[in-house]
Amino acid sequence: IVAFFQPKVLAGQRVLVTAGPTFEALDPIRGITNHSSGKMGFAIARAAREAGAEVTLIAGPVHQTTPRGVRRVDVLSAQGMLESTLGNAQDATVFVATAAVADWRPASHSEQKIKKDGSGQPPVLHFVENPDILATVAKTPRAQSGALFCVGFAAESENLVAHASAKRERKGIPLLVGNIGPLTFGQDHNSLLLVDSDGVRELPRATKLALARQLVAEIAARLPARRP
Ligand code: CTP
Ligand code: CA
Repeated sequence: IVAFFQPKVLAGQRVLVTAGPTFEALDPIRGITNHSSGKMGFAIARAAREAGAEVTLIAGPVHQTTPRGVRRVDVLSAQGMLESTLGNAQDATVFVATAAVADWRPASHSEQKIKKDGSGQPPVLHFVENPDILATVAKTPRAQSGALFCVGFAAESENLVAHASAKRERKGIPLLVGNIGPLTFGQDHNSLLLVDSDGVRELPRATKLALARQLVAEIAARLPARRP
């Protein structure tokens, strides 16, 4: 019912959202991941759709229902998410990176289950850094020209304002959204900090869907005026 009364502030926009964790396989039955539930990203996809956008949602392994009218692509690893994101970014006008992408993946993937070797010594695992999906998209010519508006999220455990501002500049994006701690993984409420070139603004504690709707309005207000 609320959706019905929402102004279609994203009509004509094509919005791409990443959500959830990634899973980085170690062998056929094990891997590393994190506690991201995907809730915030799915709420943003829903809010963007309600606001009239065409929405593609690239989801890591999550247990969430696809919002009505949203096109969903399921991926597993950071590399899979990067590939799918770059493909879908080509005609998007807004990119919102909410995914909790694993920063590292195992340096090698074993085709077979890694077995105990009987020595009592645990295996030594090596990791390599994953590609930064948001920074990669933000460097594309369409993002640089302003045709693709990029929004990042920041998970910090301390010094949110300083870290979030530095992260926005490092990634080269116009808007970065900080999660005001503590950890909100899986929870229905959150509060957000919006960091842009003008400074910092807080969206006070509310449900993730209410925050997603406010964020959609904030994004819409920052988009370049569309040609008639
Ligand atoms: N991000 C991404 N690809 C990665 C890592 C992060 O697209 N490999 C995106 C996230 O979706 C988020 C933003 O970058 O929108 C910030 O993620 P965060 O984990 O807070 O920052 P990092 O750059 O990974 O730095 P660190 O974890 O060391 O703070
Ligand atoms: Ca990270």
